[in-house]
Amino acid sequence: MPRLALVPLLALVASGLSLPSLVQGGSLGEQVAKRQDRAGTATVSLSQASGTPAYLASGFIYGIPDNSNQVSTQIPDHFFTDIKFQYCRAGGAQLPVPSRGWIYGIEEYRNRFGSALSNYRTTRKFGARFILLVHDLWGADSTQGTDAPYPGDNGDWTSYDRYLTQLISDLKANNMLEGLDIDIWNEPDGSLFWTRTVEQWTAMWNRALPRFRNELPGVIIMGPSISNPPSPGHKWWDGFGAAISRSGNIPDVYSWHSLSYPLDPQLSAADIATWRNKYGLPARPQNINEYGAPDEQSPAHSAWHISRLERNNIRGLRANWASVYELHDYMGNLLGKPGAGTTSYNPHGQGYYPAGEWHVYKYYGTNMTGTRVATAGSADRAFDVYATRGSTANSVKILASSRGADGIWDIKVTGLDAVGLPVSGSVSTQTWRFDYKGKYGEVGTPVNLGVVVHQYSNNEVWVPGLEKRAAGQRR
Ligand SMILES: *[C@@H]1O[C@H](CO)[C@@H](O)[C@H](O)[C@H]1NC(C)=O
Repeated sequence: MPRLALVPLLALVASGLSLPSLVQGGSLGEQVAKRQDRAGTATVSLSQASGTPAYLASGFIYGIPDNSNQVSTQIPDHFFTDIKFQYCRAGGAQLPVPSRGWIYGIEEYRNRFGSALSNYRTTRKFGARFILLVHDLWGADSTQGTDAPYPGDNGDWTSYDRYLTQLISDLKANNMLEGLDIDIWNEPDGSLFWTRTVEQWTAMWNRALPRFRNELPGVIIMGPSISNPPSPGHKWWDGFGAAISRSGNIPDVYSWHSLSYPLDPQLSAADIATWRNKYGLPARPQNINEYGAPDEQSPAHSAWHISRLERNNIRGLRANWASVYELHDYMGNLLGKPGAGTTSYNPHGQGYYPAGEWHVYKYYGTNMTGTRVATAGSADRAFDVYATRGSTANSVKILASSRGADGIWDIKVTGLDAVGLPVSGSVSTQTWRFDYKGKYGEVGTPVNLGVVVHQYSNNEVWVPGLEKRAAGQRR
């Protein structure tokens, strides 16, 4: 028996409505009696379709082993295909001598470029898109010393211009343009990657964007990749907004990071609109190209982020908190392997197994098919749902979780006639739990919490939330 104590956070629940004939028990009376103790309710509206699933949250930064400049097959394919892998973001960061990037000389640049090319080729093998991190190829990957040069230091752009010429030529020579996004500089506001002024950064942006846009037509240019969403008086967002509205060098995709509680992608979407209005900027697709602080990488947090990103049509990539070669492994902490996180770690080692979160992305990528439907998270913003359906009751799939907080939230499912059910009657839910055993802890398939029948009327059913220990004790 799995030890329930190994679930540190609220258990994540994935439910599939199924036909009443599958009912095998469950005690409706007890659950309903506790409704007044509940923290809130999320809603799934089956009658409101919202497009084909595009797995907007199924991406990660780095996470793919290097293989010189070739495709890597080190991680077995199914780990990528089962989660409908959509996006990787890399540029050779953290590789030591002799692969530290442009500012350490042409050979160190070439070696680092090889890593990016290998990761690009592996990503494209699965049809996913690749975001190239230009700052990492430069060498500003957070390991650079305090004396490291930055583009435009002392008003001199010679090295940066030569760098762009070299990079653009290498991207073309290696057929690296299809499925490519270019991220001009990561987290200029954070001292790890940029230690110069807003003005020097926007001058660089205005220099780089026209070159990429003119010399690499069709490539997507993404930015500003600031470490937070916009907020009133944020000097980096304000500087950027003013600079690009003046120059017209507007990215194809707006990007930023959402790395820690209480940042919320749903609120960020509104913040972006406010910021755009202030500077008269057009709407663009959005990409949170790093989501999830280390303490927000668990099945519960992943499911909550998936729900937030999907509802707001924001693409997202999981942040990656590893260093050196382990940064280039485990698909952004979705996998483990023998020696992971220890001194016996082997960059070329195999024996990969899923960590807890991988099963969430697999359910999201493989089981949740058909059409997305409209949802609403709980009013306290602590609990959310993502849902899909086909045309029958047992095609309905709901991924639900709190943002790691303890509590009991319920789910209201409306529009049952959209999946062929009568407006009143009974329906059953099959519930699965996704466990977590730490960053590299191996986790098996989701735990079956059984089937419960619900009486309903008014074309909607109330699915009582599960309290984490009580849920497990039901069996
Ligand atoms: C997901 O779908 C597969 C294939 O149909 C099935 O075997 C598996 O039980 C499903 N997982 C869950 C948690 O429903």
